[in-house]
Order: sequence, then structure tokens, then C-alpha cells
Amino acid sequence: MSTPNKVVVCRDIGAEAMGFLRAQPDLELVVWAEDRACDRAWLDANIGGAVGVVVTFSDLVTPELLDLAGPKLKAVSTMSVGYEHVNTHELSTRGIRLGYTPDVLTDAVADLTVMLALMAGRNAAQSMQVVSNGEWPTVGWSPFGFCGPQLSAAPARSRTAGFIGFGRISQAVLARLIPFGVTRCLYTANPASAPHHARDDALKAAHGLAEVRAVELGVLAAESDMVFVLAPGGPGTRHTVDAAFLRKMRRTAILVNASRGTVVDSEALATALKEGWIWGAGLDVVEGEPNVGGDHPLVREPRCVILPHIGSATLETRNEMAMMAATNVVAGIRGAEMTAELKF
Ligand code: DGY
Repeated sequence: MSTPNKVVVCRDIGAEAMGFLRAQPDLELVVWAEDRACDRAWLDANIGGAVGVVVTFSDLVTPELLDLAGPKLKAVSTMSVGYEHVNTHELSTRGIRLGYTPDVLTDAVADLTVMLALMAGRNAAQSMQVVSNGEWPTVGWSPFGFCGPQLSAAPARSRTAGFIGFGRISQAVLARLIPFGVTRCLYTANPASAPHHARDDALKAAHGLAEVRAVELGVLAAESDMVFVLAPGGPGTRHTVDAAFLRKMRRTAILVNASRGTVVDSEALATALKEGWIWGAGLDVVEGEPNVGGDHPLVREPRCVILPHIGSATLETRNEMAMMAATNVVAGIRGAEMTAELKF
């Protein structure tokens, strides 16, 4: 009888995906049973001899982990589109495949990104706090209380949206912003990638936009009414939004980050909010998360709306991500085509 293939699953990823994995006769599953990120010591102790591992972005896939796994490891499958937590260079050197979950979360994240833009402009953090603190009866209504800049443009004016990272999710956000009166789209492009003139012309035509253009970071900061950070993270984008960038932004502009916390310098953003360099911020991710407590400088900023990394958290999307993560790991182990494999 052949030895079953050990697959370590760092989180219970739901009934359908776990059922699919359990139904594979050649797999021996080792599953972290608690509903919280798995303990590193547990992962280190169990990864030895595994052929596959299913992780989330809370689990760092480091050279040390791969050493502990040993030479049998064929596939890492992450239940996320982001892969900042995975050392892709090491995987490629060792010939280990990486599955991830693009596309299925695009709409969910784009929806939430627009929600954050609205919340950041309209003082949602501060005004919701007034209600939850029981202060509404004393605060009452005032003609200019809680006013903020309007996301939608008056008919004679227009809005400019700036995107740091202009992939699938940014383009889905742009589509959602057209009815708000956005007529200009600026974005920063990876200097190494070829210009996307045909794609930009097609977007312009499809949405009736005046402009879709790759620009320098400083131009994007200075000319955008709303800046969306939707970049992959990793060393190449660390603190792209720093004090210099924030100082160039408009005082009525908002910043939204729904990708990775590392792209924004939290300390600089807290200063920018405190000193009024920008109007507000909507964050689904924060550098160092989940260790963002009540005393974090951004949590203390009244014009900063923070959500605990729930961009893809719809029932439909999370289930699709889980199924994709499960089928990816099985395909990776068997040498078959994954639904979504990151090519290094
Ligand atoms: C991802 O998939 O990378 C998100 O950040 C988590 O849903």
C-alpha cells in the first residue's frame, strides 16, 4: 500500500473546500483546528514530509519553513490573491509551485474599496462613534456638522481618481466610480512593464473618460481627488505612500488602501491626518496588522476609517477562494494544471 500524501492545512477553510480535500483518497490531511491563525510552532512541527500546504496571508512561507518541509513539498496554495507572505524566490529555486486566488475576489474588494472612499470622505468613523458612544442626543444635528468633501461631482465639474497599482481590482473600482462623475483616471505603472496604450484607450472609450494615463507618483498625488492603493505589496512597494507623497496630495483628497498595509507609511499618514494635509483615509489593511490596537496612531485619528482586512469577506467570494485554494493544492501535488498558478 502506498503512503498517503500529507497535506497541511493551516486553517479550516469551510465545509465545501474541506469536504473536497477530505474526499481525496490519496491525501492525509493535517488541519489546524482552531478558528485563528495557526501557531507557528504547530506549523513547524507538522510541515515535515508534507507534499502540499494550504496557507492564508497570516502564514509566512519562509526559507526556514521550506527547509522544515523537506524535499517532498510540491505545492503551496494560498487562499488569497496577495502573496506578500510567500518567499516566491525560494519557491522558484526549489521548484515548488504556488497556487493563489485571483479574479474571484475582484468584485468584493472593489465594492468595499468604494465603500471606504465614501466613508473616509463623509466622516464615518467620527459620526458612527458619536452614535455608539450614546452622544447623539447631546450632539444633535448641525448645519455643518460632520460635513466632508462629496465623492460625486456636481454636473459642471469632474473628479480624478488616482490608482497606485492598476490591475484587475483597480479597474473594477474605476468602473464603479464612473456614475460618481469620475472623468480622469491616473495611475502609476511598474516602470519595468510595457505601456498599456491599447488597454487605456479601450477603458477611455468604454467609460467615456477624458483621460486614462500612467503618471509619475508626484503627479498622481497632486492631481487626484481620491487615491486608491491597490498594489501587491512586498519590498518593491514598501512605503510608496510616505510623507513626501502625502504632502503633495490635495487637502480635500482621501486615501484608500485595500491591498497591503506595507505600501503606506502609517506614521506619516497619521501625521498627514492630524495636520490636515489630506482630508481622510479609509483603510482595510494596516502595516503590522493584526497588531493594531486602540492606541495605534491611526486608530486614534477621527478621520481614519479602519476595517480589519475584510475586503474579500462576502459569503460567496470566500467560498470561491477556499475552493480554489483546495483545488489548486490538489492539482499542484498531482502535477496537473491549477485553476490559478503564479508563474515566477
Ligand atoms: C487577499 O486575497 O490577498 C486579500 O488580501 C485577503 O482576502
